[in-house]
Amino acid sequence: MSENLPKIGVLGLGFLGKTLLREHAFSPDSWGTWRESRVAGLALAQHCFDWDNPESFHQLPNDNAVLVLTIPPVEKNLEDEALRLQAWGAWMQQNRPQQQRLIYISTTGVYSWQERLWNEDMPLSPDAPSGQLRLKTEQVLCEFFKVQVLRPGGIYGPGRNLVERLKVGKGIPATPGLTHRIHVCDLAGIVVWLVQHPEGPGCVNAVDQEARPSWEVAEWLVQHHPKLTPEMLPERPESLSPGNVPKRRIDNQRLLREMRYELRFPTFREGLRPH
Ligand SMILES: NC(=O)c1ccc[n+]([C@@H]2O[C@H](COP(=O)([O-])OP(=O)(O)OC[C@H]3O[C@@H](n4cnc5c(N)ncnc54)[C@H](OP(=O)(O)O)[C@@H]3O)[C@@H](O)[C@H]2O)c1
Repeated sequence: MSENLPKIGVLGLGFLGKTLLREHAFSPDSWGTWRESRVAGLALAQHCFDWDNPESFHQLPNDNAVLVLTIPPVEKNLEDEALRLQAWGAWMQQNRPQQQRLIYISTTGVYSWQERLWNEDMPLSPDAPSGQLRLKTEQVLCEFFKVQVLRPGGIYGPGRNLVERLKVGKGIPATPGLTHRIHVCDLAGIVVWLVQHPEGPGCVNAVDQEARPSWEVAEWLVQHHPKLTPEMLPERPESLSPGNVPKRRIDNQRLLREMRYELRFPTFREGLRPH
């Protein structure tokens, strides 16, 4: 049976990496990497790996796993990061030649804040340095691997979401404008879809059906979530009043129409509903 299961190697067992390996079946010789501490309760092999330290590259198994790269950029400077990525890519080609496929978890931050509907095929010029770093990463990785890029919106799910923030009195993220989201279980499901479809799209936006400013979601939550009350809502800063919301939108038609991916949590309402 397991002969037909895909073999993956997850670089970075964070929120997404753990969800992916916990919720989906992979070949038993699949693996993941940790940096500071091993992940408890995972049946698959784990290797200690620091992307910032070339000496640790040897820790990666020499096999034909499909790589899923969840680690964010290391350097702050664009040129430094490009050089670092080129050195890693060249090392991988030389020393891990069978690992040719890589699914890269990027971000919708590669799209600028210009008010329009952004799809995967548009030319990009990110506003923020973080978006520029991500775009550069996408581009450099393509020089060394057969890459499929996933661009998620804000990733939320069990233990990391607005309900938890409100419960402990943390502020609402001060992102101006519409926030596009994706539940971590859906994101993991989309990764699996890409692993199973090497001929699938080279780039796909991973956002759900209803982008809303975080403040609107918080206002909805204090009305509808049994563990929250309206008093838990912090005061909304003037700069984030509804009239000031930029209307950048991220297109998800490739995900929903072309790939026919069915979201388990189409909006934050399903995703944040208490179980
Ligand atoms: N959170 C969001 O809303 C959002 C939105 C769009 C895109 N993204 C991006 O999507 C990706 C997956 O998200 P996530 O929520 O799963 O992220 P996450 O929980 O922060 O996981 C990232 C993983 O990368 C590891 N890592 C970081 N730097 C490393 C290094 N130099 N060498 C080796 N491992 C390293 C982390 O290990 P440690 O635990 O040791 O730090 C962690 O296991 C990330 O790149 C994230 O930036 C996130």
